[in-house]
Amino acid sequence: MAEKLKYACIGAGGIADKKHLNEYSKRDSVEVAAICDSNIAAAERLAQKYNVKNIFTDYNEMFDKLKLDFISVCTPNYLHAPITISALKKGISVHCEKPLAINAEEAQEIVDAKNKYKGKVMVALNNRFTAESAFVKSCVEKGMFGEIYHAKCGWRRRNGIPGKGVWFTDKKLSGGGALIDLGVHYLDLVMYFMGYPQVVSVSGATYSKFANSDNRLRAGYKNNGDGKFDVEDMAIGHLRTDSNATVNFEFSWASNIEKEVKYYELMGTKGGVSFVNGELKLYSEIFDTSINILPDVSSNRKVVSEFDHFIDCIINDKEPDSKPEQGAALMKIIDAAYKSSELMREISL
Ligand SMILES: NC(=O)c1ccc[n+]([C@@H]2O[C@H](COP(=O)([O-])OP(=O)(O)OC[C@H]3O[C@@H](n4cnc5c(N)ncnc54)[C@H](O)[C@@H]3O)[C@@H](O)[C@H]2O)c1
Repeated sequence: MAEKLKYACIGAGGIADKKHLNEYSKRDSVEVAAICDSNIAAAERLAQKYNVKNIFTDYNEMFDKLKLDFISVCTPNYLHAPITISALKKGISVHCEKPLAINAEEAQEIVDAKNKYKGKVMVALNNRFTAESAFVKSCVEKGMFGEIYHAKCGWRRRNGIPGKGVWFTDKKLSGGGALIDLGVHYLDLVMYFMGYPQVVSVSGATYSKFANSDNRLRAGYKNNGDGKFDVEDMAIGHLRTDSNATVNFEFSWASNIEKEVKYYELMGTKGGVSFVNGELKLYSEIFDTSINILPDVSSNRKVVSEFDHFIDCIINDKEPDSKPEQGAALMKIIDAAYKSSELMREISL
């Protein structure tokens, strides 16, 4: 077998453990050479769990000392751009957690760096890498829905604020609240299915109704008491594309609803699709009769994981499916929604 790809994970928190280290450490083609976290105890904990030799607290020092092929960026959002750009300058490929950056400007700087230096960048938009998403994408590409002229998406939690006092609720560190955190996933899905059309206008409204509430019930996880909370707990919005297709969206960390829901709907001239809390349904018509289709995708489709996909891209010099340009397009939409809320008017792009 060819030499293994030398890999390191930066940020040794929740997603590094649950996904990146857990997955990459199982691949024969990858050597997990190091873990880097500014909190040495966090790095040590995962180094022990995954049997990793090298620990760093400074990612630039790690880039200088080890000849890495690729890294994962699993840090708070404000570090995604500086770490990714620094890695690209050293020729290191980057699997960057979502969102790509805290705003469109920094996301564009990543795209520019990727175009300038050697090295690939993939945004961890993991909801694309499921049997349902792969099936819906192939239905769209085969024209099953006709022209998709409207989509809806949302992820609404009843009690799921990531907790006051952690970086998620501090705008400087996170870039925003429910929209940037949950919204990137489902906005990406509908934009991906629609072929990432040019967005020409965005209208949005954000709310922060539970930030100063003492109600501990609202905190879903990582609650850390009374820290900073200057981001939205709910965002809703609407965007229009250059062909007059539209998307409505709604995302919340906390709201007075019955229960959590994650969903998207695509409406096309020949058919439609809904995906609600994991349940996929297709709608069309035949012989003047409406039909509903319940695809059994899980047993019939082999799904390539985002981790295998990125390894394949690095080894075989392919462009990742989940592109930084698309991560940057999402950040433009998100920035515009925040601006629209602040100015209380639609924003043209
Ligand atoms: N794809 C998904 O479904 C998904 C799910 C959860 C989180 N995420 C994303 O993953 C990223 C991390 O989230 P998390 O929940 O794991 O956060 P976390 O707070 O659990 O972990 C972040 C880690 O980064 C470390 N860190 C902070 N500054 C650092 C620095 N300068 N150098 C190195 N390490 C540093 C922290 O010490 C911490 O251990 C975020 O961007 C988040 O949006 C994605």
